[in-house]
Amino acid sequence: MKKALMKIISAGLVMGMMVSATACSKKKAGQLVMATNAYFEPYEYHQDGKIVGIDVEIAEAIAKKLDMELKIEDVEFDSIIAGVQSKKYDIGMAGMTVRPDRLESVNFSDSYATGIQAVIVKEDSGITDLDALLEGDYKIGVQQGTTGDIYMTEDPMVGDARVVRFTKGNDAVLALSSGKVDAVVIDNEPAKHFVEATGGLTILPTFYAEEEYAICVNKEDTELLEKINKALRELKEDGTIAAIIEKYIPSEG
Ligand code: ARG
Repeated sequence: MKKALMKIISAGLVMGMMVSATACSKKKAGQLVMATNAYFEPYEYHQDGKIVGIDVEIAEAIAKKLDMELKIEDVEFDSIIAGVQSKKYDIGMAGMTVRPDRLESVNFSDSYATGIQAVIVKEDSGITDLDALLEGDYKIGVQQGTTGDIYMTEDPMVGDARVVRFTKGNDAVLALSSGKVDAVVIDNEPAKHFVEATGGLTILPTFYAEEEYAICVNKEDTELLEKINKALRELKEDGTIAAIIEKYIPSEG
């Protein structure tokens, strides 16, 4: 009798523990969890202890329309898609380029911005254009898993052996400054900020590829995707997105 009771109590305890464990790992209702990699000014970066930037403000505006609370997770760029696939995060938003291979794993929203791949070199490098970089036996730094990485690795002129991968864009730029790599291929707007912050570096006048940035969502979350696209349409139409982009990337004149 006593033993049976103990069993029931301990079974209850175990179950209670299991319930609270799932409760902890489950996302809260009404929360929109966004995975990003916040070393990518002006799209997402740390400032005064907060993560700010174009993507953050657009995500805030979308969450508001969805009546949800935005929660940002700063993770490695090449873990964002896997985390969205496993539903650890609801969305991935990180100046992320729409690519056919990524579309095999996740869905993408409509595009909210465009980007271009830029090449950063040292001011005195003697590398004056893209062809010189591709043809020479130079080491090229990239952020792991980004389009810069993919383009360079797949370029028949370049290839794996010449590509040096870093988990953060900053680290690639640091390696360029210290001479460990000869160039960095990265999106144009972050490239401008890195060059400004570092000194002795310059961006080549030729650009590698134009890209569309969008939000990635789990393939099963089609309702969420539709809501995000609707919010994006409204935010484009009322000028909110243009204003957010203009705030971080002021057009000249
Ligand atoms: N646009 C590039 C890509 O999608 C680079 C994005 C990197 N973003 C970041 N937050 N670090 O691969």
